[in-house]
Amino acid sequence: MRGNKLIFGSILIFALLNAAICPAQSKPLRALAEKRGVYIGTAVAMKPLKNEPVYRKTIEREFNIIVAENAFKWSSVRPAKDKFYFKDTDRLVKFAETNKMKLRGHTLVWHRQIPKWLIEGNFTRDETIKILKEHIKTIVRRYKGKILAWDVVNEAIDDQTGKFRIDSFWYQKLGSDYIKLAFEWAREADPTAKLYYNDYSVEGLNAKSEGVYNLLQELKKQKVPIDGIGWQMHVENGFRIEPQHRINAGRLTDLNLELSITEMDVRLKLPAASEDLQKQAAAYRDVADFCLAQTACKALLIWGFTDKYSWIPKEFKNTGGALIFNEFYKTKPAYAALQESFVKAGQTGDNR
Ligand code: XIL
Repeated sequence: MRGNKLIFGSILIFALLNAAICPAQSKPLRALAEKRGVYIGTAVAMKPLKNEPVYRKTIEREFNIIVAENAFKWSSVRPAKDKFYFKDTDRLVKFAETNKMKLRGHTLVWHRQIPKWLIEGNFTRDETIKILKEHIKTIVRRYKGKILAWDVVNEAIDDQTGKFRIDSFWYQKLGSDYIKLAFEWAREADPTAKLYYNDYSVEGLNAKSEGVYNLLQELKKQKVPIDGIGWQMHVENGFRIEPQHRINAGRLTDLNLELSITEMDVRLKLPAASEDLQKQAAAYRDVADFCLAQTACKALLIWGFTDKYSWIPKEFKNTGGALIFNEFYKTKPAYAALQESFVKAGQTGDNR
């Protein structure tokens, strides 16, 4: 009897000690997300992946899904009409496999980062269709079964009007037909990958998200093979989830689409103060809570993870600090907010 008590007591002490030394919040995001059945991910840049072990190790520890920041884009993967460059994409796919991570494919049709040979090639409509078809079929087939979801079409809708973006090579050459075709070719090439439309500033209710909703509704009506909507979510500090976001997500998922947050970052005006970091944490927390609360939301990916490598300072003047680790790979309040969100979702037994 006494012996039993002793054993029980030791187990209890061990359990308490363990909880104190290793509270749930101190676990990496990946471990916490896996418990919740959701994917947490980051965009990956090839250079630091190859050259900086701490960059690579942090990804391995923290994330269970990755996306190439640039490696799958036309400018990287298609140096010439008759030439594909697969060294980096192969490397990334292998990295994901080795580390049991999922992979998003980004992106097959976008108006940016298109090679010169294509823009200046004076191709006819038919030739352009042929080139695009060959592009999609070649890449999607090569990685068949290895890509969880493809951003088939990226940013096709204009910010102001909600109509098709006219400053697009694809729209100018092919009209809006390319969208339907791209999804069909991708589906033929890999029937198992989820096919997404991906865009920014489409999470709230506005002219652009209205345009995107109409487009997706029309595609569904025409039985175009599309499975999901990606909200990029490059947002400004101060962002909070509001009723408009739930309403928008609701109408999209009613179209039988899944949702992923694909490129989140929360940019700060520089110089930033410590309350800005708290505000930023609230934005990340809100989005994680929001995603975890609905089964339609499959993944939350951020566009890089360390402020050392982020596209924000180059693209938006006098802003930065948009990610969850600082430039020395130290976690920021936003990191802890994500951890807490995942732990809390576990405790409240949400509907996943
Ligand atoms: C950005 C990359 O981060 C930069 O390195 C590159 O110079 C430009 O593109 N929306 C997208 C991403 O879909 O592909 C963009 O990535 C950011 C905005």
